[in-house]
Amino acid sequence: MPKNMEEEKKKICIVGAGAIGTALANVLAHNSNLEVILYSIEEQVVDSINQRQYNQKYFPNTKLTWRLKASGDVNVLSESSVIFLAIPSSVMLDFVIESKHLFAPDAILVNMAKGLSKDVHFTIAESIQANVSQRVATLKGPTFARDLIDKMPTAFTLGSVHEELFPLFKEIVADTNVYLDFSTDLRGVELLSTMKNIYAIATGIIDAQFDSPNLRFMFLTKAFNEMRSILIHFGGAKKTIFKYCGYGDFGLTALNDLSRNRTLGLLIGKGFFSENISNMVLEGKNAVNIFSGILSQDENLTEKFVIINELQKVLTQPNYDIPSFVHHILNDD
Ligand SMILES: NC(=O)c1ccc[n+]([C@@H]2O[C@H](COP(=O)([O-])OP(=O)(O)OC[C@H]3O[C@@H](n4cnc5c(N)ncnc54)[C@H](O)[C@@H]3O)[C@@H](O)[C@H]2O)c1
Repeated sequence: MPKNMEEEKKKICIVGAGAIGTALANVLAHNSNLEVILYSIEEQVVDSINQRQYNQKYFPNTKLTWRLKASGDVNVLSESSVIFLAIPSSVMLDFVIESKHLFAPDAILVNMAKGLSKDVHFTIAESIQANVSQRVATLKGPTFARDLIDKMPTAFTLGSVHEELFPLFKEIVADTNVYLDFSTDLRGVELLSTMKNIYAIATGIIDAQFDSPNLRFMFLTKAFNEMRSILIHFGGAKKTIFKYCGYGDFGLTALNDLSRNRTLGLLIGKGFFSENISNMVLEGKNAVNIFSGILSQDENLTEKFVIINELQKVLTQPNYDIPSFVHHILNDD
């Protein structure tokens, strides 16, 4: 048993018993050095986990380990030393602010949501950190929940400015199917995990229209370069793009049909949306709005980040001519 876990089991709480929260909780619960509790606001989900070892809503066909317990009582947060937050980005900050009186002073909060914050701090992890005294980290990977719960080797980047936390996370995932790389570039990890959704939508549009390997990888190269420029522009470190949260998550999201954002792109490219796309809520789409809103304040930047700029037009202009999307992007220089 690792040294600093000898005295007692480390208490882990995962907030949100949806797809990624349940998958991670089930994987970590296999580590006998941990006591893992899944907190959910969905009563039926809690009951189905505790009474039948299934999450009937999100994984109805997967038996969960008996070690995993669920709770609908938010007070479980106060007993937890590491709290993974696996709820949508749109509700994250409100949840943290409402619950922060429950967090132990030395608890560690780990943001798993992929999205941007509406406040000045820009990324969700930075917004959380601005509201709590506890140390904050982010966990972002090329990770489909289905593969994770099926025990496929699965990678995440653990990002935190608190480098001293990295050994603890190594211990938490020890002997599981989770592999970590680490970064002190909290902002960069957060930015990349949001941007990849944007470029997955754009890749979907192009693949729906052409299904051409030549064009796909020409576009992916341009997209990767644009992501890198945006990362640097917003204060992330260049090298973070080669972590699992960068190159890895970009590839997973842009090229797999399980990805909701790529699927949105495929549907746009096939012409399923003509007018009502502006009503659709999706993290990738929100990210396009936020990034392009900031970049559009400077004309030089709009020209530099041509894919994001063009995608914003697709998502907001009802009569945008989708077949000309590629043409506009490729004639950028
Ligand atoms: N870090 C990663 O590698 C990774 C991988 C996949 C998904 N994600 C992100 O994790 C988040 C959750 O994704 P998902 O696919 O599990 O979603 P999901 O819809 O399957 O689950 C969302 C969960 O959040 C809970 N929830 C919703 N509103 C809440 C609130 N106000 N208070 C408390 N709980 C609330 C729901 O009950 C549900 O349990 C998203 O932001 C997604 O982008 C991260």
